[in-house]
Amino acid sequence: MFSKRVSDTSLPPLVELGKLASETPETISLGQGIPFYFPPRYIWEAFFDLLRFPEMHQYGPDPGRLSFRKEISKKLKKENKIPAHPDEIIITPGANLAYFIAVSTLADPGDKIGLISPYYFNHEMACTLLNVKPVEIPLVDDFELRAEFIEEVIADPKTKAITVVNPSNPTGKVFEIKEIKMIRDLVEDYNKWLICDETYEYFVYEGDHHISCGSILGLAERTVTIGSLSKAYGIPGWRVGYLHAPDDFAKEAIKVQDTTAIAAPMPSQVLGELLVRDRKTLIPEFFEYMKQNYEIAKKRLEDVPWLVPTPGRGAYYLFPKIAEDISYEDGFEFAKKLILEAGVYVVPGEAFGQAGKGHLRLSFGNTLPKELNKAFDRLASYSPS
Ligand SMILES: Cc1ncc(COP(=O)(O)O)c(C=O)c1O
Repeated sequence: MFSKRVSDTSLPPLVELGKLASETPETISLGQGIPFYFPPRYIWEAFFDLLRFPEMHQYGPDPGRLSFRKEISKKLKKENKIPAHPDEIIITPGANLAYFIAVSTLADPGDKIGLISPYYFNHEMACTLLNVKPVEIPLVDDFELRAEFIEEVIADPKTKAITVVNPSNPTGKVFEIKEIKMIRDLVEDYNKWLICDETYEYFVYEGDHHISCGSILGLAERTVTIGSLSKAYGIPGWRVGYLHAPDDFAKEAIKVQDTTAIAAPMPSQVLGELLVRDRKTLIPEFFEYMKQNYEIAKKRLEDVPWLVPTPGRGAYYLFPKIAEDISYEDGFEFAKKLILEAGVYVVPGEAFGQAGKGHLRLSFGNTLPKELNKAFDRLASYSPS
């Protein structure tokens, strides 16, 4: 009765768990990866002011407002070292749609896209919806990337691109230059594309430097870079992100934007431009909030005897392993028990692919430090049977 593509697509893993969490009084959410901060007051005031202008109630240009694309182009050149012309940028209603546009533009039904795994579940869902087969490229041990696993997927003639999320949701992995070069060598050899989602680019905590794949010699001409304003500026509800890719990509991709969203919301674009212009003052402040939460989460994880830390150091997430002596059959059932019995909402690792099994994803993004500490108190005193 419904299309096979939609029936085959998994339900969003956060829906059922999120419902249970919201129906269970006093639950603390370390579930969804959303920021707890908001943009400053002058931005809200600008929003009310904007509504006086008739064009704010209309569709904007398909690729986004030119002044905003110019601002993103300046940012990409300066901060990310990506040679991005404004005509190569499309402002999208969020990074999720940017990914959908990228896969639609690069792959046909029956093609494959490699996902470095554990992956971001909406990437897997987007591929399945488009009748493109998502293929896991598993990280091993402490999230180590192995050339042979990339090659296995990339050598398949059906594979059009591989996807990297850097820093990673869910592992928190920050990709090092040698890993990006390893990917570069393989995508060059096999003449494939790389889709790099940099939603969490500002959130690296251990003094690492975030490296944009599109800045690397040899990758610049075959990388789709995806950015989001949701996390960086605390505005996931505004729906604003972007994509950049060289050459003729944007000319083709715009067909997908026009068919799906037409354009990103006009007020979000105007305010997004203001935020990006003011990033030098705004981002350090937001980063400090998140760093404080990262430090708390990392430290307090040591108090939870049944969780084993893993070396994530970016994004909004810790992705510990469930200790081997804990017996449970299904991660989702385990997560439900945690909501009901410990009062903490977390996401089971299998929501992020086979390679995520045996882990839990703990988001430290959406709680104030006090709540975060309380969540860890609860996890520390809970004993899963
Ligand atoms: C890796 C990644 N990409 C994209 C998104 C969604 O971003 P947006 O709100 O811009 O669609 C998320 C949200 O959790 C994410 O983790």
